[in-house]
Amino acid sequence: MIATTLADTEYHVKVLSLSDVEDAVWAEAVVSLLMIDVLPPETERLAFRRFDAADLEPMYSYQRREDYAQHAWRGPRTREECERALAENTGLRPWSRDGDHIRFAVSPKGSRELVGEIVLTLTDVEAAQVEIGWVVHPDHAGQGIASEAARAAIEFAFGSLGAHRVCASLDALNVSSAKVCERVGMRLEATLRQSHRQLGEWRDELIYAVLADEL
Ligand SMILES: CC(C)(COP(=O)(O)OP(=O)(O)OC[C@H]1O[C@@H](n2cnc3c(N)ncnc32)[C@H](O)[C@@H]1OP(=O)(O)O)[C@@H](O)C(=O)NCCC(=O)NCCS
Repeated sequence: MIATTLADTEYHVKVLSLSDVEDAVWAEAVVSLLMIDVLPPETERLAFRRFDAADLEPMYSYQRREDYAQHAWRGPRTREECERALAENTGLRPWSRDGDHIRFAVSPKGSRELVGEIVLTLTDVEAAQVEIGWVVHPDHAGQGIASEAARAAIEFAFGSLGAHRVCASLDALNVSSAKVCERVGMRLEATLRQSHRQLGEWRDELIYAVLADEL
């Protein structure tokens, strides 16, 4: 494992056998090897960890729920979709191209119980733009878990990942998520009128964001 820099940010690089790689594809290979191998720091009550196969049933138990998915950008997830999400997120994740994303499991400190998820997406490498998403198991909602985890993940994005701006995009009816944004210091930047369709109707979208020097 060595460290290198990209856009003034230190990334951890997992080096495979670069000597085997043709010169013509070397640069491409190096970029594709930039991986996240760190986790956001623990908070007062919570710890971040990578997912593993044992998270399937807990994850599916809330991802399958209609009430849970009503303001998400998609419908409830099937067991197969949860399996795919887990398979994608158990190991190190690439973090070098637009669209790369990493999903962290959130557990109470000292436990591996799955109480929530944080997703970070690299939306624009050149401009160091990161989008954050969150999910809290309905059995654990209303305890401040989303805000506590989101705060730590945003600091992680600014610190370890070198983000310049972190944004969140939410269905305008998702009042709980809008409150999370405000609790963690994000500003409402835009309301996109009828920018998506959900359950057969037009819905508005809210864009919240925070800059590195605003925290
Ligand atoms: C939206 C969602 C993430 C909110 O999760 P949450 O953990 O309840 O959110 P918060 O961290 O803001 O918790 C705040 C609530 O906990 C309460 N709380 C209780 N104990 C607390 C504590 N120790 N610290 C802070 N808040 C506490 C707060 O008073 C607040 O109550 P209020 O909403 O009535 O004002 C969650 O409901 C969810 O996953 N929904 C479905 C998926 C979804 O919509 N995801 C977002 C897509 S954009």
